Amino acid sequence: MEKHREQKGSRLVFVLYPFQGHINPMLQLATIMYSKGFSITIVHPQFNSPDPSKHPQFTFTPIADDLSQGKVSPADLFGAISALNKNCEEPLKECIQKMLKAEDTHDRISCIIYDGLMYFAQSVADHLKLPGMSVRTSAAATVLAFAVFRRGDEQGYISFLDLMSKDQVTELQPLRLKDLPILRNQDVADLVLELRANLSDSVKKSSALIVNTMDFLEQNALKQIQGLFPTPIFTVRPFHKLAPIIFSSLLKEDTNCISWLDRQAPKSVIYVSFGSLASIDEKELLETAWGLANSDQPFLWVVRPGLVRGSKCAELLPKSFEERVGERGCIVEWAPQLEVLAHGAVGGFWSHCGWNSTLESICEGVPMLCRPFFGDQNLNVRYVCDVWKVGLELENELERGNIEKAVRTLMVNTEGEEMRKRAMHLKEKVNLSVREGGSCYNSMNELADQMLSLRS
Ligand code: UDX
Repeated sequence: MEKHREQKGSRLVFVLYPFQGHINPMLQLATIMYSKGFSITIVHPQFNSPDPSKHPQFTFTPIADDLSQGKVSPADLFGAISALNKNCEEPLKECIQKMLKAEDTHDRISCIIYDGLMYFAQSVADHLKLPGMSVRTSAAATVLAFAVFRRGDEQGYISFLDLMSKDQVTELQPLRLKDLPILRNQDVADLVLELRANLSDSVKKSSALIVNTMDFLEQNALKQIQGLFPTPIFTVRPFHKLAPIIFSSLLKEDTNCISWLDRQAPKSVIYVSFGSLASIDEKELLETAWGLANSDQPFLWVVRPGLVRGSKCAELLPKSFEERVGERGCIVEWAPQLEVLAHGAVGGFWSHCGWNSTLESICEGVPMLCRPFFGDQNLNVRYVCDVWKVGLELENELERGNIEKAVRTLMVNTEGEEMRKRAMHLKEKVNLSVREGGSCYNSMNELADQMLSLRS
């Protein structure tokens, strides 16, 4: 995308939440805004620091945090969010104060754009009298679920037990209660309440809510969120169709899999990846391996370090599996996922349904086999399978016979035909949305204008 306007030396400060599924969309959004003429500073915790050499056009500023010092475990998701918000506030304030002191008319901060989970950034923005914008990297439906439960918290009628006795919450249909990212673990109930309150308060104070979704996918949820917050809402997906693909992986991408894909028949390969955080046990790894082997489809499988709890994954796969599969299977530790999904040989994606993976699959018209693990993934699966109908869920225990059958349904059986067609149809809608005058194209331009107008 060309620099279509001169942004009068305006700088945007992005504040990252340091996990892969959050870093990718934030850096992609930053890339688009750079292409529109903004200068970009990326402020990030030292933990899971992105590699500045991959993005020479941005200025990177690390800030201290408790995760990198080992004081809080990153696996303790809610503890980590709480700790980052408590410990990064002062360092961010100091860092932006320094930038403000040094700024001149050719380089002024327009706005602080923060991952919604780093809600302390809104307090810093307020303190320094700068505009702040909250980015939610998950589905609009997840944003809505948090907002609806927050309203319940405020009115004092939804207690943990009240919730568990219900089946559905009217505003959130077609989702069932069990699809929602509500923790059943009482130990973290206070942290979840704290998170809901802070997410909601920061959005109310922000100059805009930026949602990592496409409007035609989630019109109802977006409308309802707009009813709950006065803040203007912008949808910004699919970034990678609006600017060159950026490489923001924390793990090294194994690009050899692309030449392997080049040797496979069109739409024959099932791509398997469970994202950056989910894990399975040894038995599940073996069932997955044999399910894929017995499906007779070629497969590209991401077996990431840490995927199998307590083991080095590749060593667990028996020789008999390798002999059976031979050239038909390709296993990598980390794949260039956007390129993989866009490759003509890929016909299906077995995914954990992290929100980025879900959108990336939709953008390329690839139908999904869904196996959610935690958090928002169950909610995403409901949309994939029951609303957009571009995937099927792999339920129950991971077992080789079920896997084999599901892979065939997704990829080749007549039963999966309609699903495959609908996936291609959604891809066409995505392509329309990024053309000049399309909804995503317009939303991105309006967002850039809004950013520019906030600090004259
Ligand atoms: C986490 C949560 O699991 C998810 O539910 C939430 O919506 C976002 O945060 P993650 O598990 O990493 O994210 O999944 P996802 O949102 O799909 O993000 C993974 C990112 O890593 C994607 O952008 C994907 O393209 C990339 N990826 C994944 C690779 O580049 N290579 C791989 O091999 C696997």
